[in-house]
Amino acid sequence: MTMRSRILLTAAVCALSLPAAVGASAQDAAEEGKLLFNNACRTCHSVNEGDNRLGPSLHGIVGRPSGAMERVNYSSALANGAVTFDEATLDRFIENPDAVASGHGMKPFGGIRSPEERAAIIAFLKSPS
Ligand code: HEC
Repeated sequence: MTMRSRILLTAAVCALSLPAAVGASAQDAAEEGKLLFNNACRTCHSVNEGDNRLGPSLHGIVGRPSGAMERVNYSSALANGAVTFDEATLDRFIENPDAVASGHGMKPFGGIRSPEERAAIIAFLKSPS
């Protein structure tokens, strides 16, 4: 096999495996997000439905208005749908909760600076639990 045909063959194999790789990477992000969630959020939050701990359950949080869980004493910064957690808002909230909901009660959580880590956590929160 010539060098040129070897390169063409490699390119063809890569193109064929691309769709599978994209699917896998969304899954990988959710997997990585789960680890990050366990480290940064799970002390206070569960993703199981109705499982309110120190913080409210985050089951189905993406797209949900804030303050929607029963039996949680929300701060007025989040109560009664003060914020809607679409992906962009959730991203900013995880980066710096004060910027989205000044006066929130999610202390002493300090925010996650890395955009990749936040994206992975959001991918995990979006994945079925
Ligand atoms: C130290 C405990 C603690 C940690 C750590 C923590 N949270 Fe929270 N979280 C809370 C509390 C308490 C509230 C309710 C705050 C309020 O009412 O102002 C809350 C509220 C929230 C809300 C709003 C929920 C709703 O129903 O309105 C979201 C979203 C959220 N947290 C996401 C996260 C994510 C994602 C992480 C990890 C990156 C995290 N939190 C880490 C304690 C925590």
